[in-house]
Amino acid sequence: MFGSLPTRLYINDVVTRDGFQNERSFIPTDEKISLINDLSRSGLAKIEVTSFTSPKAIPALADAETVMKGIDREPGVIYTALVPNIRGAERALSCNIDEINLVMSMSETHNLSNLRMPRENSFAQLAEVIRMADLHHLPVNVSLSTVFGCPMEGQVEPAEVYRWIERFSALPVRGVTLCDTTGMANPAQVFQISETVRRQFPHLEVTLHFHNTRGMALANAIAAVQAGVISFDASLGGLGGCPYAPGATGNVCTEDLVHMFHAIGCETGVDLARLLAATARLPEIVNHDVPSHLLKAGPADRRYAEPTFVAELRARNWDTA
Ligand code: COA
Ligand code: ZN
Repeated sequence: MFGSLPTRLYINDVVTRDGFQNERSFIPTDEKISLINDLSRSGLAKIEVTSFTSPKAIPALADAETVMKGIDREPGVIYTALVPNIRGAERALSCNIDEINLVMSMSETHNLSNLRMPRENSFAQLAEVIRMADLHHLPVNVSLSTVFGCPMEGQVEPAEVYRWIERFSALPVRGVTLCDTTGMANPAQVFQISETVRRQFPHLEVTLHFHNTRGMALANAIAAVQAGVISFDASLGGLGGCPYAPGATGNVCTEDLVHMFHAIGCETGVDLARLLAATARLPEIVNHDVPSHLLKAGPADRRYAEPTFVAELRARNWDTA
């Protein structure tokens, strides 16, 4: 079953957007910039730097322009940011961004609570943003929230997801991200939906975005890889969560995901030691513990000294009769 895995996977770290948008206290701008600079040097394919949303809706990211203009741009890394409307796209363009990431929910209730409008109105606005981005030759990705379930409505029909992707795919967009906003996805569902989207929309880049709310994020990532997905969102330290989705907790943790991918023979280009050095700074930056497994346990090749009595036991003349 594992024989046909892709050899190269691509990781987009979203900690400074999905992670920091959900923090209670404001992370100082220079701390954000210095963390992004560390991430830039760790071999990630993409970094979602911030979001150009209303500062009333997401006060934690009110410094989007200063952060975007203050970071060092590492050649080869794609710098993206979340944009909810035309105003956000104009702000992103003023920062010479590499890509914009639009957002819309697959559940009407979550769209109303997160974006304050029905999906149909979101789509009309986003279509306008896409046309504007196209005029500026700015690539667009569309993140679809609650693809695998809504914490308020429950199940989301896959046919509904395909219908919205169909409409977006008629516009000049580079890719879509299927988001499990509150960790409701399971591996069977992830395999089926990822496989269908890849088959029906072969010209779109497909990225998967998991939250580990119910401990299934790594299993879901494996299911997505088996369906041929090669791009993943993940968050350093496992921070994250949508402030307008009840019960949302952290994203799949970048270092845990990278460690697992390397262990099964999939390369990511990420230098795990460098990434872990960045994670080690995170609890101090956010002023609380982070859910990363790797930060606590270290990589699987970590070795401990054997207890002193083991040498004596080994040297003893054991009677095996
Ligand atoms: N950047 C800065 N300010 C913005 C903005 C943007 N992209 N979009 C709207 N605003 C401001 C408006 O100027 C207005 O300010 P004012 O009250 O001082 O006049 C205020 O926000 C409300 O504007 P309005 O057009 O009525 O928007 P809204 O209240 O319907 O909110 C969104 C719509 C999408 C802008 C807002 O809900 C939002 O930013 N949500 C963020 C969602 C998000 O990021 N969720 C987490 C990630 S999934
Ligand atoms: Zn998310």
